Amino acid sequence: MIFFIYGVIFYFSIIVFLKINYPELRWNWNLEDDKKLNFPKNFFWGTATASHQVEGNCTNNNWYKWENNFDDEGSPRIKDNQKSGLACDHWNKYEEDILMLKELGVSHYRLSLEWSKIEPKKNKFDEIILKHYSKVIDALLKNNITPYITLHHFTNPIWFDEIGSFEKEKNIDYFIDFCEFVFNRFSNKVSNWCTINEPEVYSVMGYFAGVFPPGKKDAQVAAEVQKNLLISHTRVYDKLKSLSNGKDSKIGIVKNVMQFDPSRRWHLLDWLACRITDIVYNKMSLSYLKYGKIKINIPFFINLDYSNKDAIGKTDFFGLNYYSHVHLKFQFDKHEFFINTYPKNDIMTDMPYTIYPEGLYRAIHRVKSIGKPIIITENGIADSKDDKRGLFIKRYIYAMNKAIQEGVDVRGYFYWSLMDNFEWAEGYDMKFGLYEVDFKTQERKLRQGSKEFINIINES
Ligand code: BGC
Repeated sequence: MIFFIYGVIFYFSIIVFLKINYPELRWNWNLEDDKKLNFPKNFFWGTATASHQVEGNCTNNNWYKWENNFDDEGSPRIKDNQKSGLACDHWNKYEEDILMLKELGVSHYRLSLEWSKIEPKKNKFDEIILKHYSKVIDALLKNNITPYITLHHFTNPIWFDEIGSFEKEKNIDYFIDFCEFVFNRFSNKVSNWCTINEPEVYSVMGYFAGVFPPGKKDAQVAAEVQKNLLISHTRVYDKLKSLSNGKDSKIGIVKNVMQFDPSRRWHLLDWLACRITDIVYNKMSLSYLKYGKIKINIPFFINLDYSNKDAIGKTDFFGLNYYSHVHLKFQFDKHEFFINTYPKNDIMTDMPYTIYPEGLYRAIHRVKSIGKPIIITENGIADSKDDKRGLFIKRYIYAMNKAIQEGVDVRGYFYWSLMDNFEWAEGYDMKFGLYEVDFKTQERKLRQGSKEFINIINES
C-alpha cells in the first residue's frame, strides 16, 4: 500500500513539474485585442509562394509523379485525385501578381526556384527557364519588391529522385551544384536566400506519415533524411558564402515550428508522446544549428548520433514558419501511438489546426536562442469562407509584435500565401490566399479578410 501511495505522489509530482515548466500559454483576448501594435522602423512585410504550388506545368519533379500515383489500395495520393496542373499560372501571370503585391502594400516577396525546370537533367541547365526567372526578378526589383528566393521547397527533379534524393548523403553534392549555379546567375540582383524549406515537414510527411512523396513510413529513414537536409543547409551556406556576392548575401534556413501539447495534462503518456514528437520535429534542427549535434535515441524507432561543430550558427537569419500547435493523446495502438485532438472551444481553420496566436509568440521565444535575427517566412490560414482570416491576421501579428516589444529581433513577416494555390496532399481545397483564385478563369480577387493585413501594413 505504501508503495502505491508513494507511486501516486511521485506520478503527480512529475505532472506538476511538467505543468509548471511547460505551460500551454493562453491569453485573455478580451484584454489583448485592443492593445496597440508598434513596429520597428525597418520592419518589413511580404507574402510567400512556392514554385510547384503556383507556377503550373511542373511536370518533371517528384510531386508530378506523386500526383499521378496510387497507393496499394488504388487510392490517389492527392485528395480527390487532384493534380497541380496549371496551378495559378503564375509562370505567365507573374506581372499581374506583382501588381497584387503592390496593392497589398508589401515590400518583399518570397518565391522558390523550380529546380526540376532549371536543371531538367543532371548537369543540363535550361537557359530559357533561367531567362524567365531573371525576368521575374527584374520585374520585382522594378516594382521595389525585394525577393527572398527559396532554393528547395519540397520538390526534386525526377532524375534526383531516381538516384535516391536526400536519402543518400552523397547526393547532396548535386543540390550544391544547382545552388551554386543559380546563385552565380542571380546573386548580383538577389541578396536574400532561403536554403531548405522545412526539413522536418519534408522528412516527416514523406518518410514517416507517408503522405508526401516518396510515401515511405520508416522513422529511422525519416530522421536520416532530415539530417541530410540539415547537412545540405550548412553545405549550401558554406558554398554560397565562398562565391562572389556571398559575403554580402543573407542566407538562412526555413523551419516550421509546431508545439506539441498534451491532450490530457494529467496523463504522463500524453506528455511522453509530445516530448518524443518534439525531439524529432523541432529539437533536432534547433540542436543542429545551436550545437552542431543531433543525438536521438528512441528505442526501436530512431537511433541517430551526428555531430559537426562546423554547423554551429551557420545561418544568417532564422526563417520561422508557424501555423498552429497540436494536442496529442496517447493510445495503445501499435500502428498509431497517438492521435491529435482539438479543444472544443478553440476556433478551427480548414486545415486541421486551431487558431493559436500564442503559439507564434512561444515559437519566436524558443528560436531566439539560436541567436540570429528571425524572419517569419510563413504564417497564414486556410479559410474558404473567409470569416476567420481577418481575426487570424490580427491576432498572429499581435503575438509576433508582443515578442518584438519584449526585445526579440524579428525583422519581417511573410503571409502565406499571396493567393490560393496547390496545397500539396490537400490539392486545391485549402484556401490560404490573400487573393482568391478562380482556377477556371485564373481570375484573382482580393479577399475581404485580407484587408486586415493591408490596414496593419499601412499603420505600421
Ligand atoms: C509549406 C507550404 C504550405 C503551407 C500550408 C508549409 O508547411 O511550406 O508549402 O502550403 O505550409 O500548409
